[in-house]
Order: sequence, then C-alpha cells, then structure tokens
Amino acid sequence: ESSVVVAIDGPSGTGKSSTSKAVATRLSLGFLDTGAQYRAMTWWMLANGVDVNDPAAVAAVCDKPLIASGTDPKAPTITVDGADVSGPIRSSEVTAAVSAVSAVPEVRARITALQRAIAAEEPGGIVVEGRDIGTTVLPAADVKIFLTASPEARAARRSAELRVKAAAEVAATREALVKRDTADSTRSTSPLAKADDAVEVDTTELTLAQVVECVVTLVEERK
Ligand code: C5P
Repeated sequence: ESSVVVAIDGPSGTGKSSTSKAVATRLSLGFLDTGAQYRAMTWWMLANGVDVNDPAAVAAVCDKPLIASGTDPKAPTITVDGADVSGPIRSSEVTAAVSAVSAVPEVRARITALQRAIAAEEPGGIVVEGRDIGTTVLPAADVKIFLTASPEARAARRSAELRVKAAAEVAATREALVKRDTADSTRSTSPLAKADDAVEVDTTELTLAQVVECVVTLVEERK
C-alpha cells in the first residue's frame, strides 16, 4: 500500500482533531495536531514572561523552545524541551494568547519547517490537521479536507469538551471561539483558508462517525 498524506483544515470546534485521529487510526497512518505545536510555543512564551502581544519579542526568542510531537494517533504526545505539556497547552491562558503568537511570521516559518520534517519522516503516510496545511504546509497533499460547522454547533462542541454547561459560559465560549477564528482568518501570514482543491465538509448535522466515514471514503478513492 502506498503512502498517503491527508490535510484536514478548518476553524475550531469543527471536529478536526477527533476526525483526524479516527481517520489515522482506521487507515494506520500517523497523526499530527499542528494546533498543539502553536499552543506549545505559546505556553513556552507565557512561562518565560515573553509579551505575546509584542511580535518582535516573540520573533526574537521563538527558536529557543524545542518542540516535539509524537505521531501515534492512539496516543499523540507534545513536549517542550522534553517536558510533557499536553495538559497546560489547553489552558484558557494559552487559548487566549495562541492567535497572537501564531500570527508572527518567524513562529510560522519555524513550526512549518518542523511540520514538513515530521510528515517526511512518516513513511506510511500521515493525517495532518490545522489551519494552513492544504494551502501552505503540505500543498501537495494527496487529499485535502476543509471542515466547517455553524458557530452554534462549534460553540456547543467546544463547551462540551471543556465541560461548560451554564448558558453564560457557553456564550462566552462562543465569543472566544469566534474571536480566535477571526484573528486566524485575517492574519497576513498563512491565514486559515480553504485550499482551492480541498473538499469542504459541513459537519453541523453530522455525527463524528459520519464525518470519519466521509473522509475515509475520500482517502480510499484517491489512493
Ligand atoms: O487547533 P487548535 O484550536 O488547537 O489551534 C490553536 C491555534 O493555533 C489556532 O487558533 C491558530 O491560531 C493556531 N494554528 C495555526 N495554524 C495551524 C494550526 C493552528 O495558526 N496550522
């Protein structure tokens, strides 16, 4: 069986991670969560007192942290300088700061190079999920998927993930999510965008199993 590279992009709350892990597991491919890498960079900036709203300060030190990702879809890992940061990178502080850090061109150049190296080292193929995988990181990917969903569905999923139930908190979660997507879509370097040759899948009315089935079918058709 030949190797296949699958790019899955889209805004937050569309089920990218769950879908990508399930597809990679089904097809025995590697898995890379590129958002986790930008979160790891952001976590390191905050931990080291770098002003994340000062792009020059971020650019000056962004080659210092050693970020590494394990690509097993059943147990993905993310470390900074050897320390497991899979928990801390999901904090609200990191989530609130990540769009500013990921908009810095030097950060994107470094992390994009890392992503390409990881994909190249995965001989059996890989599913890479993010915002700019089909457009910038791996423009020659065999299959490109762009996941979308209504803002309501995305906020509901993110709230469930965070175990947020109160109406006011769901509303705040939705606001934070829309704000992050707007920032990610309007930055000048490599914004969140659908590649011209990506297949758009609206997941609003679909279950995770249905989305996975749809993506697996698209991959098998192109292999
Ligand atoms: O996917 P996740 O929500 O964890 O991504 C966190 C943030 O990382 C995004 O909001 C975006 O700012 C950044 N990101 C990016 N490019 C990617 C993946 C994530 O800029 N390919």
